[in-house]
Amino acid sequence: METIDILLLGSGGREATLAWKMRQSNKLGKLYIAPGNGGTHEFGENVALSPLDFDAVKAFVLEKGINMVVVGNEDPLVAGIYDYFKNDKDLADVPVIGPSKEGAQLEGSKDFAKAFMIRHNIPTARYLSVTKDTIEEGYSFLESLEAPYVLKADGLAAGKGVLILPTLDEAKKELGEMLNGMFGASSATVVIEEFLSGIECSVFVLTDGNSYKVLPVAKDYKRIGEGDTGLNTGGMGAVSPVCFADEMFMEKVRTRIIEPTVNGLKAENITYKGFIFLGLINVKNEPMVIEYNVRMGDPETEVVMPRLRSDLVELFKAVSTGTLADCSLEIDPRYAVTVMMVSGGYPGNYEKGKVITGIEDVTDSILFHAGTKKDGDKLVTAGGRVIAATSYGATKDEALAHSFASIAKVNFEGMYFRRDIGADLK
Ligand code: AMP
Ligand code: GLY
Repeated sequence: METIDILLLGSGGREATLAWKMRQSNKLGKLYIAPGNGGTHEFGENVALSPLDFDAVKAFVLEKGINMVVVGNEDPLVAGIYDYFKNDKDLADVPVIGPSKEGAQLEGSKDFAKAFMIRHNIPTARYLSVTKDTIEEGYSFLESLEAPYVLKADGLAAGKGVLILPTLDEAKKELGEMLNGMFGASSATVVIEEFLSGIECSVFVLTDGNSYKVLPVAKDYKRIGEGDTGLNTGGMGAVSPVCFADEMFMEKVRTRIIEPTVNGLKAENITYKGFIFLGLINVKNEPMVIEYNVRMGDPETEVVMPRLRSDLVELFKAVSTGTLADCSLEIDPRYAVTVMMVSGGYPGNYEKGKVITGIEDVTDSILFHAGTKKDGDKLVTAGGRVIAATSYGATKDEALAHSFASIAKVNFEGMYFRRDIGADLK
């Protein structure tokens, strides 16, 4: 049987989970993870390579005869890694799982994403995009809205580019600050949005540009504090399935959001062969799009992939050959939850290099490394989000009990985690 050698780009818990999942496939030959983390070497070989250094990626792909590149995070996609491969005669035959540079604008530019949604009649909050030259129109638009007010930097801002302001005065002031470079060039254009009230969930779609498959729905918990308080983080935990995303809700998501998105990309000749992440909000049982991302979510991947029974490498192959319509997905009916262990002080300042102990005693959960690295024969912390403990259960609470029991065995100085992951769901 012919196997596929894959290069996976990224270093977080998402990539550790994708590596774990691909390793289970008998279609996988060699797996390289660039740069990977302190856990990914269990599934392949870590390579000290920056995903944004396309020339270095090229040299490595050619040297090793790699057959496919899977892109974990958005930065290389927004920077155009898909087009870099397609336009290079030596690389054109190596499929990249991810959208073209233009497709990646769905995440790389909130203004592009909003205009795309309007063109294709996809439900989303009312908005106006403004620049310094049109700030007065921005003020008028804010005056036409009700509190609170949502301001979004157009470009990538490491998840920090969204402000929600309680009063009109603050919204006007912050609009000025944003346009004056609060997020650098990312906020030279600002999207002003109507505030939507509801509960959020994350829907993941894999597409080959024609056909699509919907992966299990997940909900993540972004705030550092219990009860969704405090600063935003990369994500403190996730749950799948999500009770309110029932058949009826998902039928609306398919017909009103997923199909218009996939068909809209095709109609506009935008090449897209990869994951589409729909950040949705349930407004009185009507799904609306809060944002698009062009990759899997983190920590949602840590619950979505464990529930996918189908062979991920086969699915990626089908994406690359345009034969996804011939595949079917098999989903594990159990709950999966993940609880993130983070460094003390995160998402503010925190120390790295803390020794992590106890992971070999964990048997009830899968530990997906995020911010870890090997330091000699020790495992040490190397980021804010350190390790995710994913568990299965017949119920959400059963799955959570496994994760908490596992976390009790792990230790590093300053370790923190949220005990209320999934508490807002039935
Ligand atoms: P985004 O980066 O677009 O996902 O926004 C970050 C977070 O801000 C989202 O996960 C929501 O919780 C919140 N948010 C963004 N847009 C809106 C909106 N129009 N109404 C309410 N909340 C929003
Ligand atoms: N968990 C949200 C994200 O990956 O953007």
